[in-house]
Amino acid sequence: MNRNIAVLASGRGSNLEAIIKNIENGTCIANLVLVISDNPDARALQIAREHNIKAMYLDPGPKKTWLLPEYEENYVRVLKEHDVYLICLAGFMRIIKQPLLSAFPNRILNIHPSLLPAFPGLDAQRKALEYGVKFSGCTVHFVDETVDGGPIITQAVVPVLDDDTPETLAERILKEEHRIYTEAINLVLSGKYHITGRRVIRTEL
Ligand code: GRF
Repeated sequence: MNRNIAVLASGRGSNLEAIIKNIENGTCIANLVLVISDNPDARALQIAREHNIKAMYLDPGPKKTWLLPEYEENYVRVLKEHDVYLICLAGFMRIIKQPLLSAFPNRILNIHPSLLPAFPGLDAQRKALEYGVKFSGCTVHFVDETVDGGPIITQAVVPVLDDDTPETLAERILKEEHRIYTEAINLVLSGKYHITGRRVIRTEL
């Protein structure tokens, strides 16, 4: 079965790095064939190259937070050329639209640093802190036409401590992100789940 994945990342790339590490140590069953960034200076590109993984900058076009259809079409073409089965967004700072969504139906994952549906969008850790929640965490979900709103695959919970800053909370959440992204990728690649309504149900342990 096709276990080819691509990671799309705009920046630091710590989730990418965790996925690569887990592939290398055998805990992630994916075959990472390509890393794409909309930012030519993304550290994620450098990390990929250091691990001999093909990495490329793809022009995102003139819009700041999304890709015009002709630019997204180029992403689709490159992903298809590499026989990518699953796309993993890891800090990719663009809203995914058409034609990517219909080219990869339920084949695009995202990781978000909150317990969705709480605190979607940017600055989730700061929003959680300011709201006063006592627990936050992270979520891996399928990507649909909404922002951070697709069916949830897995989540992890972390406590919010009284002396937390957005940075210390983000750090605690990030540790869990690095763990659960691999779990979600493994589940989707194994095909041992189905989606009923919004619920992602595991069919085998
Ligand atoms: C992570 O917190 C992720 O949840 C969010 O963007 C951040 C990316 O971090 N979507 P990194 O580039 O993987 O280090």
